Amino acid sequence: MSRRSVNPSRRVADGGLPSVGGLLHPKSRSPPVLTIALVVLGVILLVAYFNSGSGVTVTSREAVSRSEGTCTSEVMRALPYLKKAYGNAMQKVLHVGPDSCTVVSNLLKEGKVEAWGVEPYDLEDTDSSCKSLVRKGFVRMSDIKFPLPYRPDSFSLVVVSDALDYLTPRYLNKTLPDLAKVSTDGLVIFAGNPGQQKPKVSELPKFGRPAKLRSSSWWTRYFVQTGLTENEGPLKKFEEATSKDEYKPDCQIFHLSS
Ligand SMILES: *[C@@H]1O[C@H](CO)[C@@H](O)[C@H](O)[C@H]1NC(C)=O
Repeated sequence: MSRRSVNPSRRVADGGLPSVGGLLHPKSRSPPVLTIALVVLGVILLVAYFNSGSGVTVTSREAVSRSEGTCTSEVMRALPYLKKAYGNAMQKVLHVGPDSCTVVSNLLKEGKVEAWGVEPYDLEDTDSSCKSLVRKGFVRMSDIKFPLPYRPDSFSLVVVSDALDYLTPRYLNKTLPDLAKVSTDGLVIFAGNPGQQKPKVSELPKFGRPAKLRSSSWWTRYFVQTGLTENEGPLKKFEEATSKDEYKPDCQIFHLSS
């Protein structure tokens, strides 16, 4: 009944404009088709929109958690203990490693601390606060296979994370003494543990080669070969402070004299 009540009004409307009605008649069957097409198009556009939207969310979430589970995030966890161990030597720090912006901005937040960073891989998809650190010269991108852009004794402490694992001994032989040279009070190395989760395959191009996670005995032997010695005073204080809090780092931490 209700259908019938609609139809006459339509017929009246069609009848009112016969020529247009006649013209529209072949299409009068197509509106549903057209509507379906438009709806399908709309759905496709919406799906595309939401996919791109979620894509953006995923990347930004990745950027936030990029350093999670890495030795750079371990540096952040270890900062209070490094402060106890190094005291005044923590006033002029250079961090070398991926996500250096995060470490540097964390250190700068403290006030009284001067901090710089070397990002060995890329600074392309960084956030605005990192871009600002780069613009101000606090963080720079530099391939650590080549001499560092700093004069000897420029910093009191140099902290390296997730960077040396990617170097072959040939480059380590140049880079490690270089890192020691730019610091006056010590060099702290955060290295991955063998068996620790490696970076995703998708991140490999950034590092150039897979990380070689070396054992603590490998590193110790290497330091002896290279003539680097343990920084005994700070090492002892660091161990005291960490054992009191039962802090167990996921990375190997070496304290070397410079
Ligand atoms: C690195 O240096 C050590 C000590 O000087 C040396 O024994 C070793 O052969 C060097 N390795 C490479 C690959 O050059």
